[in-house]
Amino acid sequence: MATGSGRYLRYILFAFFGILILYFISTSSLPSYTPSIAEAAGKLSWDDIKVPVTPPPAEKPAADPDAVADAFTSKPQNPQLGTSPLPSITPLSPSELSPAAPGERVNATFVTLARNSDIWEIARSIRQVEDRFNRNYNYDWVFLNDKPFDDQFIKITTSLVSGKTHYGEIPVEHWSFPSWIDQKKAEAVREDMRRRKIIYGDSISYRHMCRFESGFFFRHPLLHQFEYYWRVEPSVELFCDIHYDPFKYMKDNKKKYSFVLSLYEYVETIPTLWESTKKFIKAHPEHIHPENSMAFLSDDGGDTYNKCHFVSSTPMTPSFTTNTYQWSNFEIGNLDWLRSKAYIDFFESLDQDGGFFYERWGDAPVHSIAASLLLPRDDIHFFNDIAYYHVPFTHCPTGDDLRLKLRCHCNPSDNFDWKGYSCTSRFFDLNKLSKPVGWEGQA
Ligand SMILES: *[C@@H]1O[C@H](CO)[C@@H](O)[C@H](O)[C@H]1NC(C)=O
Repeated sequence: MATGSGRYLRYILFAFFGILILYFISTSSLPSYTPSIAEAAGKLSWDDIKVPVTPPPAEKPAADPDAVADAFTSKPQNPQLGTSPLPSITPLSPSELSPAAPGERVNATFVTLARNSDIWEIARSIRQVEDRFNRNYNYDWVFLNDKPFDDQFIKITTSLVSGKTHYGEIPVEHWSFPSWIDQKKAEAVREDMRRRKIIYGDSISYRHMCRFESGFFFRHPLLHQFEYYWRVEPSVELFCDIHYDPFKYMKDNKKKYSFVLSLYEYVETIPTLWESTKKFIKAHPEHIHPENSMAFLSDDGGDTYNKCHFVSSTPMTPSFTTNTYQWSNFEIGNLDWLRSKAYIDFFESLDQDGGFFYERWGDAPVHSIAASLLLPRDDIHFFNDIAYYHVPFTHCPTGDDLRLKLRCHCNPSDNFDWKGYSCTSRFFDLNKLSKPVGWEGQA
């Protein structure tokens, strides 16, 4: 009992002295903390960021990045402190948030084909790629469009990309019907595909896009200065950290083409693609590499196509199509290979046959067939550790340890790699690669 009331008394004394000390501090001549915050605010202005701060337009304040900047720069809380705005965020300059990874950079860039209306889907993709990888590497980013980019697109993408951004317009010859295409015939095909409900079967712009990605993007003047590219499409989801530089991996290991998912193409969109390919093989045997991956494409030594392709491309974004379905795709490759005589001869041979318009050839099977036939097997790489989502398929790395180390947020049972509709097993078998530990559990 006695010790209990003694403790009680001590608490009261403690509280009393505490209040006394606080009183002395508040009335003493110790400098107040407020001026130094104001000073910091003066130094940390939003002008440090490359996005120019201008007053937000009245009609769309919420979507405007300037409005967001304004929200962070609150009004001065004390009128005597003057006009410098007080930031309500921790005062760190943005560049300090992402220390660059050590080591040299490869001659490489991200590349994105987009329209102005894709801005928010693209912003999401950039943010994912920056957070998981590029914030530490600061690679450049090239944006291409068949129309000029508008101010909003440029402003937002510039603020998100940690490297330099480049904006280019696609020359009209790369985004239109070539002279030899019979317009009547092409229109009849689109009408027929519309009736048969083939996805994007009636879209003209989708066809221009597939042809552009197959044969022209790597020849755009903005890409001449680079050796490697990484294609990023709208609404990409990256599930894991990318703990090394994939560009450097490609260069150090002399890889020319890479993938994370592979699957079978819709046969209705490419009925004569293999006939055209065989025609090219006959006309240009010099371009077919002796150590090719024909076994990835064909089960009968090249007579027929098994429809396998690496998922590389064919973005399906709302603005290029009338549908809301999306495909977010992955592709890291060597631009000099795409600019080689072998690849250009292959593309031009296919283009002459007209299947981009008389059927609906996608750039994924075109790139995949080219990589499989023109490159030695060793030049194609499967990135198990880059986790990617491509509607409706997920590549979630095989291997429990790997997923934990990379801080992945994908469900391993969603992994598509070893399922029946994937061609990835075929790639492993053909290259005599051993599959990652645990693959049987996901088949
Ligand atoms: C990057 O690669 C391109 C294409 O191969 C080349 O033209 C350019 O000179 C290279 N740039 C540097 C800095 O090496």
